[in-house]
Amino acid sequence: MIEEKKKTVIPLSIPHLNGNEWDYVKECIETGWVSSAGSYVTTFENKVAEYAGSQYGITAVNGTSGLHLAMHMLGVNEDDHVLVPNITFIASANAAVYTNAEPIFLDVDPNTWQLDLDILESFLNENTTQEDEQCILEQTGMCIKVIMPVHVLGNMCDMPRLMEIANKHNIHVVEDASESLGSYWKGQHSGTFGVMGVFSFNGNKIITTGGGGVIVTNDEEHAKRAKHLSTQSKVDPETYFHDEIGFNYRMVNVLAAIGVAQMEQLPGIIKKKKEIDAYYREHLNGVGDIRFQKVEDNVDPNCWLFTFYSEKQKEILAALKENKIIARPFWTPMNQLPMFIENIYVTKQDHSKDIHLNCLSIPSSVNLEEEQLKRVVEVIKQVFK
Ligand SMILES: Cc1ncc(COP(=O)(O)O)c(C=O)c1O
Repeated sequence: MIEEKKKTVIPLSIPHLNGNEWDYVKECIETGWVSSAGSYVTTFENKVAEYAGSQYGITAVNGTSGLHLAMHMLGVNEDDHVLVPNITFIASANAAVYTNAEPIFLDVDPNTWQLDLDILESFLNENTTQEDEQCILEQTGMCIKVIMPVHVLGNMCDMPRLMEIANKHNIHVVEDASESLGSYWKGQHSGTFGVMGVFSFNGNKIITTGGGGVIVTNDEEHAKRAKHLSTQSKVDPETYFHDEIGFNYRMVNVLAAIGVAQMEQLPGIIKKKKEIDAYYREHLNGVGDIRFQKVEDNVDPNCWLFTFYSEKQKEILAALKENKIIARPFWTPMNQLPMFIENIYVTKQDHSKDIHLNCLSIPSSVNLEEEQLKRVVEVIKQVFK
């Protein structure tokens, strides 16, 4: 064990609020513009859209509500399936369920931990037919309306290939880009391949608004409708005329103000994340059976949260805990959760299970000092001695 005196807690991934956050929030409070009508909301959504190279950005109260809105706008309903990777945060699947659709889970690639496109392609080729330009799953007679790739840990699958598969089968693509602000495939930002993409600004994400989300799209109609639906579908603010069932999903100005300040720091934050990633890759390389997440040559990832594979996952987690270093195993696969145990799970070798049992995320906060990174590496190395 590392000496007692060095043992201050090293958190997993904490927010980095070192810019103009306080000034902008103060301005909201001083001017009284604290709610969703304030100008920071528009500034923030425009900044995110511009950064991602998308035409429109629409805020939401969190990534989950952004995904829900996207499903709702595409008319996803109880007659539909949504294809979701089996390794993801539950919000991806929940967004489909909120619209009464039935998610189908697909196994992930054992190396990149992203949606396995071979599995996706063969599943669609072998099990679906086209009826009125809809993709019908023969087994259930239901429509596969959306594929939701999730850019897990800021990595990406081959998005042009995924788009080709989706287009061939007439399926919409909505990207769960919650974790991938700052990640690119051949220079194209994550979230901009499908008809809509959704970023999360939860406290643990690469930048944060405390809680928040932004939907990006190049489709003007979707952009207008997202804003309309997220503001209770209000047509006339004086007579309170609403033309359809909407949602109270728009971000408030105080949080958007934080977001604007965070966007100003994003390039610096990504630079630091990449340095942390490089440090771990250098110092954990060749240690025991440790394997790193594969990043395809075409991907420029944001390196949000460093995660690696080792069959000693449990021992490493225990050693880190003992040394007050916060680490996490990877998500329980969707097919193992009680709500989804009956859902279709498409797999050949259940790589999801293996990834869940052997992967772990380690401290990746922007303010980590080299001394702390050294301590994390040292504790991990000791497990293999
Ligand atoms: C992959 C993924 N999808 C969706 C979400 C949901 O985002 P939020 O917490 O902002 O609702 C998160 C993060 O929390 C996530 O990591």
